[in-house]
Amino acid sequence: MTSFIALQTDITTLKADAVVNAANRTLLGGGGVDGAIHRAAGPRLLQACRALGGCETGQSKITLGYGLPAKWIIHTVGPVWRGGKHGEEQLLSSCYTTALALGRQYGAKSIAFPCISTGVYGYPQKPAAQTAFKSVMRFVRQYPEAFDAIYFVCFLPEDLALYNELLEQMPC
Ligand code: APR
Repeated sequence: MTSFIALQTDITTLKADAVVNAANRTLLGGGGVDGAIHRAAGPRLLQACRALGGCETGQSKITLGYGLPAKWIIHTVGPVWRGGKHGEEQLLSSCYTTALALGRQYGAKSIAFPCISTGVYGYPQKPAAQTAFKSVMRFVRQYPEAFDAIYFVCFLPEDLALYNELLEQMPC
């Protein structure tokens, strides 16, 4: 049985098996959660990311967690919001499903997602939360044994309210 938890915290402090990074296509770090993860993980993360050769939007790649409490970091590249008619929803959904698939492949039993694409990439928070939630639930229906816990890690209170609302609507 998979538990779903929404919480407001700094994802770099979370002791999940895997934490997901909202990266860019270079995988060489940036601002936002990407910057926070690279700062907390330390320089070995950048070294490992250099060897990954980048990542396409909607795809995910995995590294060790290095200085993070998490064992793995799954780097995914969200879509830049361009108004909603350029495949953004499908690409954002793919971030969640490819990250979950990688976590499952590596044996992670808990995984933590930030609110991918809703910062620098400008994806509106509510549609992003709805797409994230729908994509995660679809994956868990397909692989009910894959994860014991899935965390929706919010940095902003309004995101936490969105995810709590979605969780409250879940059938018991
Ligand atoms: N822990 C959890 N969430 C965080 C943290 C943190 N330490 N820092 C920021 N966030 C939140 C933001 O508040 C936002 O809700 O992560 C969400 C995603 O925002 P960004 O980090 O800006 O990511 P994104 O919108 O996907 O843009 C990615 O930004 O940092 C660069 O290199 C990155 O180019 C890429 C782009």
